[in-house]
Amino acid sequence: MAKFDNSFTDELRQRLSLVDVISRRVPLTKKGQNYWGCCPFHNEKTPSFSVNEEKGFYHCFGCGEHGDIISFTMKSENIDFKDAIKELADMAGLKMPEYKKKSAAQIENEENYIKITERATQIYQDLLYSDIGQHALLYIRNRGFDDEMIKKYRIGYAPKNNVISSKFNDVKRDKLTSTGLVRIGDYGPYDFFRDKLMFPIFNAHGQIVAFSGRSLDGSEPKYINTTDTELFHKRQTIFGFNFARDSIHRANRSIVVEGQIDAIQMQVHGFGETVAPLGTALTEDHIAILCKSNRNITFCFDGDNAGQKAAIRACTLFLPFLRDTSDVRFAFVTGGKDPDEILKNSGESAMRKIIDNATPLIDFLWESVNKNYLVNTPGGRAQAEKYLKDCTSKITDKIFQNEIEQEFNQRKFNQWHKWKQQKHIKTVEVPDIDTMTINLIKSIVQTYPELAEKYTDFFVSLNISFDGDVQKTELSLKEAEKFVVSFKLQRYIKFLNDEKLQLLSNIPENAGDDYRNKLKEIDENIIKANEKLELLLDMNK
Ligand code: UTP
Ligand code: MN
Repeated sequence: MAKFDNSFTDELRQRLSLVDVISRRVPLTKKGQNYWGCCPFHNEKTPSFSVNEEKGFYHCFGCGEHGDIISFTMKSENIDFKDAIKELADMAGLKMPEYKKKSAAQIENEENYIKITERATQIYQDLLYSDIGQHALLYIRNRGFDDEMIKKYRIGYAPKNNVISSKFNDVKRDKLTSTGLVRIGDYGPYDFFRDKLMFPIFNAHGQIVAFSGRSLDGSEPKYINTTDTELFHKRQTIFGFNFARDSIHRANRSIVVEGQIDAIQMQVHGFGETVAPLGTALTEDHIAILCKSNRNITFCFDGDNAGQKAAIRACTLFLPFLRDTSDVRFAFVTGGKDPDEILKNSGESAMRKIIDNATPLIDFLWESVNKNYLVNTPGGRAQAEKYLKDCTSKITDKIFQNEIEQEFNQRKFNQWHKWKQQKHIKTVEVPDIDTMTINLIKSIVQTYPELAEKYTDFFVSLNISFDGDVQKTELSLKEAEKFVVSFKLQRYIKFLNDEKLQLLSNIPENAGDDYRNKLKEIDENIIKANEKLELLLDMNK
């Protein structure tokens, strides 16, 4: 039988969650590391059918049925391999590839490829500890790497001269170039990585499929990575995943950071479950791979603008993967630092605080919407609402989607609209001080010197004359004070509203975060003042 290119079936396995696929036919419950249900292949009343999401297979302890996502689809629907692939491809939203037979030659090519990268890694490792690697070794030690770390991550040094292209003369040229390590120029072959600190990039099976080289002399770009090859697809490769796998399982979550050195430092400092995308922004494939272990991810980005953007991107990409059991959070490292620097300067506990205080996805989404749209204006609110709607529509579980929409509606009411209604009820009647009020204040001041003393500044600010005789008030001390405080609050609310109007009638051309924050602050103060007023008036009843 003709076989599909392995990479396509691999991609299907990577893209689709076995638990999701099986759950369509068999209700599953998580117990321990596995999911359990009643076996669809034999009759049973108590579950002995187990599904291991991470390893990607199911096993029935009752009847011995065993297999993966493809065999499950074949058996449960009684269809052949090709149809199963087709159905799974549909499910994953992937196009069926051409029928391809993996030839013996292709298999041999792949083996050769790994042999070359493995041998190159060993050469780089040796060179790091040789004379010509001194500056590189010094550099990586200064970055807090000890020999054990250097060995574990197999860090090496690629020298200025063409070490691979000259040492590998027993290997055919096209084999060398297929790994991306060697290129052919006008004057013959040359090494792609020259004078670089070398980080091997491992695939999920721990084989070295590519490299990331860091410049040591401050030249740009700071990092260069192997360009995509037959065995290395940057968009589908997660740095550190091979090392993090077990920890991701044990910790029942993964942490995603921006840089590869960050990932390594996190891994050796108590956060074994940390990984990083490679040079590019995070992709859907990266998320799909991580979600195969579990759907709990803490994204930890740098606190700069780029980090905020990356977080929003990650959030949007994650939404289709979100389940009601997912715990997805966003942490930011502020002050122009990254996790590597936090660990170095402030230690593991400081880092743990940042991770522990990460914002849940829903809150992050709400906060960023409020930051990025002018929610103080109807137009801004409309845009924000469309954006939120767009986000929630990506959530596949309809019940969960509905819950989240309701949550946002609640917040919209409480934070966007409620204050306006309060303003209507309460602040419409904010007085420009009329004679009756002036007289009442005068009489309170005369009757209760303790109040006159306590609120002197306020009374003075009213700019009214306290000359002349007035009758003593009939209000009790308590009632009088309540009146003074509520009047004071109303004046304050009027002041805030005036200030807001002023701002809104005069929007600066380059209105940015400062402007928005100012508006937001005023709104928050108005809400607070209104709440206080409401409380006070309630007590009067
Ligand atoms: P950063 O610029 O944040 O660098 O890029 P970093 O990780 O802090 O690097 P160090 O600590 O100075 O060594 C984050 C990640 O983006 C990719 C790398 O994977 C890097 O880890 N990157 C960055 C590149 O691929 N090329 C570049 O030129 C720069
Ligand atoms: Mn860094």
